[in-house]
Amino acid sequence: MKKENVKILGIESSCDETAVSIVEVSKNDKGKILSNIVFSQIDEHSPFGGVVPEIASRSHVESLSPLIDQALEEACLKIEDIDGVAATSGPGLIGGLIVGLTTAKGIALGLNIPLIGVNHLEGHALTPILTNDISPPYILLLVSGGHTQLIMVKSIGQYSQIGTTIDDAAGEAFDKAAKFLDIGYPGGPALENLAKKGNNKKYNFPRPLQNSNECNFSFSGLKTSLIREAKKIEPINDETLADLAASYQEAIIDCIKMKSEKAIRNILKENQNTEIQYFVASGGVASNKAIRDSLTVLANKHKMKFIAPPIKFCTDNAAMIAWVGGLRLLRGQKDKLDIPARARWSLEEIKIREVVNE
Ligand code: KG4
Ligand code: ZN
Repeated sequence: MKKENVKILGIESSCDETAVSIVEVSKNDKGKILSNIVFSQIDEHSPFGGVVPEIASRSHVESLSPLIDQALEEACLKIEDIDGVAATSGPGLIGGLIVGLTTAKGIALGLNIPLIGVNHLEGHALTPILTNDISPPYILLLVSGGHTQLIMVKSIGQYSQIGTTIDDAAGEAFDKAAKFLDIGYPGGPALENLAKKGNNKKYNFPRPLQNSNECNFSFSGLKTSLIREAKKIEPINDETLADLAASYQEAIIDCIKMKSEKAIRNILKENQNTEIQYFVASGGVASNKAIRDSLTVLANKHKMKFIAPPIKFCTDNAAMIAWVGGLRLLRGQKDKLDIPARARWSLEEIKIREVVNE
């Protein structure tokens, strides 16, 4: 692409947020967010204590078009001013992905502009470059409702996975515990708030895989032991509820900390000739203050700087999708109109897509 700057319309619809954003991306890998709109479907899903895929898809259909108008208006742009359209094409709930991707295809076809299908995880992974003005290489902890991964971000488009979860994601550990304790939805912020009032040493929950040398996580046993403990102390009063939440969150934090430290040690050892300045956290769970505080201490211990995007860019948004779309478009990459939505799509597979596109 010859242009020095591109204005990208981004669409995110992989889960329970319908989001539209316009980001101006320049060839020196800097971005300016011109508008960023997130419509949360929380109210529609909360009676069920979790995301109902069918409801999510229908809601995306209803809200996407007005949100696109709103994003253009906020950016003071007309649709004709857009240079490319990017949509999350995976991983995520397939119905929602199809809604966003098909809308993007329609816009690309109607305006004869490029379409870029973006990997949602790459959106989270590259957000800190947009919001915190850093550049790779960096070590990334991607912690969301569907994923928990430690990744080496070597450069834009080059990722290697150091560890992942073998069962539940960290966000699921928060959400399932909150549902069981009946403290509100979405579970992460509800549990974090309650934990602030509790004693985090009161109950001793396990730290799964703590003796393993790998950087993989496991959270499902932790949830089971919470249920067991809670049943033992029934009836639960406000104080014990807060203590359970605080002790449970502490166990999650410990697991994240232990595996992050292993990853840092391994990567620094293997890359002694490369300066890796940053330990970065992104994804919804990275908005948790106790987790941020604990990772700041960890990064400093290893003479690294801890970076996490502002909270509204940790959770799902479309600025991250427009941003990745722009980075790719300026590198000459675009997709054909027949690209599929993909429920599963790992970050490491992106390399293959790059080769195909070159
Ligand atoms: O990145 P995200 O918005 O969506 C996915 O891609 O999954 O992450 C959502 C997840 C949910 O599991 C939510 O409970 C969790 O992030 N979360 C939190 C907090 N805020 C959101 N978990 C812990 N503490 C929080 N403050
Ligand atoms: Zn996400």
